[in-house]
Amino acid sequence: MRRFGLIGFPLVQSFSKKFFTAKFEKEGIDAQYELYELKDISELIDLKTDTELCGLNVTIPYKEKVIQFLDELDETAAEVGAVNVIKFIRTEGKLKLKGYNSDVIGFENSLKPFLQTYHKNALILGTGGVSKAVNYVLQKNGIKATFVSRVSKENALTYSQLTEDILNDNLLIVNASPVGTFPNVNDCPEIPYQFLHEKHFLYDLVYNPAETLFLKKGKEHGTQLLNGESMLITQALVSWEIWNDC
Ligand SMILES: NC(=O)c1ccc[n+]([C@@H]2O[C@H](COP(=O)([O-])OP(=O)(O)OC[C@H]3O[C@@H](n4cnc5c(N)ncnc54)[C@H](OP(=O)(O)O)[C@@H]3O)[C@@H](O)[C@H]2O)c1
Repeated sequence: MRRFGLIGFPLVQSFSKKFFTAKFEKEGIDAQYELYELKDISELIDLKTDTELCGLNVTIPYKEKVIQFLDELDETAAEVGAVNVIKFIRTEGKLKLKGYNSDVIGFENSLKPFLQTYHKNALILGTGGVSKAVNYVLQKNGIKATFVSRVSKENALTYSQLTEDILNDNLLIVNASPVGTFPNVNDCPEIPYQFLHEKHFLYDLVYNPAETLFLKKGKEHGTQLLNGESMLITQALVSWEIWNDC
C-alpha cells in the first residue's frame, strides 16, 4: 500500500491527515496518510527505509531545515528557500528525494481573485517558513512587501514602528504568524487597527478559527477579509498532484 505523511514537531492536530484519509476513503484510493513527529529533522533518514513511502508534507519547524536532506529541489522551492512537499522518486532501485513548495500555489491562487490595482504594497506579519512563500508570490505579482517582526532585524519593521502612514501605504496585510490560532483565540498581531479602512485587505493564513480576532478587528473597520482555508485546501491538492505526477 502506498504511504504518505506529514513530518513536523510537535504534531498535535493535523488537517492533512484528516484531509487525505477522507480523500482516500471517498475515492477508494489504496493508500495511508501517517503522522511522523520527528524530534530532529535528521530522523528523516530513517524514513527512507520505508519502501512504501511515496511522499511527505513538511510543517513547522522543518520547512527550511529539511532542504539539506533532499537530493533535488524544484525551481520554485529553490527560489523560495522553503519546502512543504517531498516526493520520493524510485528509479532502478535508487531513491531520490525532491522538494517542492505548494504553499506558493495555494497562496497565489487564493489571493489573486481579491487583488485590486491599489494593492501595490503589503505588510507580511511574521518572518517564519511560510512568510517566504508569501513574499515570493507578492513579488511575482508586482507587490512590494515589507516584513514585520517582533524583533528588530535587517529588512523588517517591528510592530511598534507601524504608523498611520505605513498602514495607508500598505493596503494588503498578511498575517503569516501563528498568532490567534486556537486555543489562543483572544490574541491578535499587534498592529494599530484604528488606522484600518475599507481599502485594506487583511489575509490571515490562520484557518482555525475561521474568523480570528485579527479578521474580526478588520471587519469592524470595513476591510476586505480572507482566512487561510482555501490556501490550505489548495496546497494539499497540489501536494497530491506532485506525488502523482498530475
Ligand atoms: N493556510 C495555509 O495553508 C497555511 C500554510 C502554511 C502556514 N500557515 C499558517 O501560517 C502561520 C505561520 O506558519 P510558519 O510555518 O511560517 O510558522 P513559523 O515558522 O513558526 O513562523 C511564524 C513567524 O511568526 C512570528 N511569530 C511566532 N510566534 C509569534 C508570537 N507569539 N507573536 C508574534 N509573532 C510570532 C515569528 O516571526 P518573528 O519572530 O519575526 O516575529 C515566526 O517566525 C501558522 O499559523 C500556520 O498554521 C497556513
